[in-house]
This record gives sequence, C-alpha cells and structure tokens, in this order.
Amino acid sequence: MSSNDQKTNQQWGGRFNEPTDAFVARFTASIDFDKRLYAQDIRGSQAHARMLNKVGVLNEDELQSILQGLEQIQGEIERGEIEWSVELEDIHMNIEARLTDRIGITGKKLHTGRSRNDQVATDIRLYLRDEIDFLLGEITRLQRGLLTVAEREAKTIMPGFTHLQTAQPVTFGHHLMAWFEMLQRDFSRLRDCRTRMNQSPLGAAALAGTTYPIDRIYSAQLMGFDGPTANSLDSVSDRDFAIEFCAAASMIMNHLSRMSEELVLWTSAQFDFIDLPDRFCTGSSIMPQKKNPDVPELVRGKGGRVTGHLISLLTLMKSQPLAYNKDNQEDKEPLFDTVDTPKGCLRAYADMVPAIHSKADNMREAARRGFSTATDLADYLVRQGMPFRDAHEVVGKAVAFGIKNKLDLSDMSLDQLQQFSTTIGTDVFDVLTLEGSVNARDHIGGTAPRQVLLAVANAREDLEKRASET
Ligand code: ARG
Repeated sequence: MSSNDQKTNQQWGGRFNEPTDAFVARFTASIDFDKRLYAQDIRGSQAHARMLNKVGVLNEDELQSILQGLEQIQGEIERGEIEWSVELEDIHMNIEARLTDRIGITGKKLHTGRSRNDQVATDIRLYLRDEIDFLLGEITRLQRGLLTVAEREAKTIMPGFTHLQTAQPVTFGHHLMAWFEMLQRDFSRLRDCRTRMNQSPLGAAALAGTTYPIDRIYSAQLMGFDGPTANSLDSVSDRDFAIEFCAAASMIMNHLSRMSEELVLWTSAQFDFIDLPDRFCTGSSIMPQKKNPDVPELVRGKGGRVTGHLISLLTLMKSQPLAYNKDNQEDKEPLFDTVDTPKGCLRAYADMVPAIHSKADNMREAARRGFSTATDLADYLVRQGMPFRDAHEVVGKAVAFGIKNKLDLSDMSLDQLQQFSTTIGTDVFDVLTLEGSVNARDHIGGTAPRQVLLAVANAREDLEKRASET
C-alpha cells in the first residue's frame, strides 16, 4: 500500500502514488496472450529455485515449498481453475502472485536474483524449442508420405515444365522428390535455428546480471540448455532467435505454398493430373459440379501471414537500443501465429499427401503433346556427330513442321524426319518415346525411374539416421 493509501500494483507499486489507469493497465498487459507460456514459465521458475537453493539463497524447506506450490499451480492452470488478472500484467507476475497466495512469504523469495526480462527471454526460448521439435516431427511425417507416393509413382510419366510450358518429360516420382528436397532444407534450417537458440538467458536479470552468487551453468543444465548466454545485455534484448525462426517458418510456408499451387493446377479440369480425396476438398453452394481443392488453397493463402510476421519482428527489433524495451512484448502474438500456422499446414499436408493419386493416362497424354522429346532428338543428332547448335536448328524446323501438320515428333514417319537430316535412322524412335527420354537421364539427380528409386532409398536411410539421432 502506498502513502496515499490507494491500491497500487502489489508487485512494483512501492514508488507509485496512484493506481494505474484502468485502460493503461489493459493496454500494457500481456496476460491475454502470454498465458500460453505458463508451462515454460513454471519450468524456468523451478530451475531458478533449485539453483538458488544450490548456492544457499533458499533453504531446503523454502525450495520444497516453492516447488510444490508451482506444481499445484500448473495443475490449476491445466484444469482451467486459474483466473488470470490483468492487474498482474503478465504470466510471470500472475504465477508469482498465485504462488505467494498459496505458500505465503516464501513465494516472495522466488524472484531473488532474476527479473521478468531474463525470465521472458528464457520462457520464449523454452517454448520455441518445444515447438520446433514438434514441427521437425511433422516435416518428417510429410516427408515419409512423399517417399511412399514417389516410390509408387517412380515410373509415372508427366510433362516437366519451365515457364509453365511443356519442357521435357519427367517422372511424377521425381517431381515429388523435388518437394522432399525442399523439406530437407527446411528441416535443417529449423534444426540450426534450434541449436543457436538453445542457450539460457536466465541470470542476466534485468540487464546487468545480479549480485547473488548464482550458478548459471547449473540452471541452464536443469532446463536442458547447452549452456548460459555470454552477455547479460544481449540476453534480455535480442529476439534474433525468434526472427530466425520466423524466417525458417516463412520458408516452410513458401514451399508448402508452391506445392499447393501445383496441386491446384493439377486438380483443375484443364490439367486433370491427380485426384485429391473428397475429404480434403469442399463443394460449392451454387455449382453442383464443383470439388474445390480448399486445403492447398488455404495453405497457399496462409503463407502471407507468416511472411508478414517475419517483417513485423524485424521491424520491431530494428531500432531498439540495448537492453530490454517494452516493445519486445509485441514479439509474442506474431510468434505464436508463426508457430500455429505451419503446424496446421504441415499437419494437413502430412495427412493429405499419401492420398494423392496420379491420373497416369492424362499425365502421359499431356507429356506426349508439346514436343517434350525435342531435346532428345537434338541429343540424338549430336551423337551422330552434329554440333549441338546445328542440331537445335534442325529440331526447331521439325517442330515447326509438326505444329503446322498437327504431328508430334514421335508421330512422324522416318521419311518425314529425314527431310530435316539424313543422318536420322530408325533407332531415332527409341529416343523419341517418353520412356526412352526419361530412362536416358540416368545420373545422380536425374529423372530416370531407376534414379528416383535410388533417391527414395537414400532418403529413407537419411530419415532413419535422423530418427536414431533424436
Ligand atoms: N510481459 C513482458 C514481455 O512480454 C515481460 C517482461 C516485462 N519486463 C518489464 N520490465 N516490464 O516482454
């Protein structure tokens, strides 16, 4: 209670002469959203209390009473029995006040040698670390699904595109393995980001460290961090680890969005390359014939919000002087959404991808149209001794002839082909077939079915290794 007897904040009201304006209290509070960090906040408090006991600041009875109190509070929160208070601003002070209500004066000792500044920096790291582990699992689940479909579709031929124009035949399995590779990099980006963030800021206190003989290595160990952060000012200030996470998440969303775009194209009547099961689609309230690929469309659409959050956090941080500033309270809502969005999208994809079925005949027919084996004909002429540029010219003329007469290269007779070069023999038809074309690209990273199956086998081994490491 302050001198003029009005009720001020019980945690920091000592120097205040009037209570906080009711709107300002709501405006500055973060409890509505940072309550999500309750488990991490309790975990951090448990580690802090144990450390204080180890260095002799808390005696054994005090420690036990704090630990028990925290455990009971966690139960209350999980059973939905806690009423959060806006007057207590945030999750840290809500839990601390609840602890003091429960265990009395000992509860007031928990905050010895720490500040909400190192506390919140610790909580977010613990939180993101858990969420990254979950996301890594979901990426792996999606990758496994891709391997199943890629193996099944290793020989399925489709047109490969550049500029969305038919370019060369590829196998559908090869296309899906391209998606797999994107996710490999997404996985390693997230893992790198986890490694860099896995340091404990606890003990940095408000900004300068603390006068108590704290053992930061011990509390870091208790929370599963690789060690303590090296500089107290930096520890309470920078949110680069969160920004890095948003960048990695944006990349995941970009990849999922690109996959979505292809699924949307492929399910259209114009392409008609694949079928998506009804359970991942919805209908139209007016057009009875419609089956819309809502899941891919939504995933594509949700990419924007994550990219937006990345920009928000970069902008939030860019002009902040050392050390902690209240601005940083604004990191949480974008960050939480940056966790939730890829979580939902990866889940939908991991469930949906194994159910993708190719319409192989349509894919094949599309690959046959559009002169997709023109490069193969040029390569054939090169093998007969013609310089590549000349071969390019010759095939260009053959294609022009085909367009005019509505004939694909493989539909032309030997006589017709020989108008363009007399070196063409009957063996040309081996290279003009779709199978000949894909089988010929039989090197690491090539589209030949043999290579696709090898890539799938290597990928499986990689995922096994990954599983044994965790
Ligand atoms: N709610 C605050 C946040 O999210 C916790 C740290 C507050 N520190 C302070 N000195 N006001 O950043």
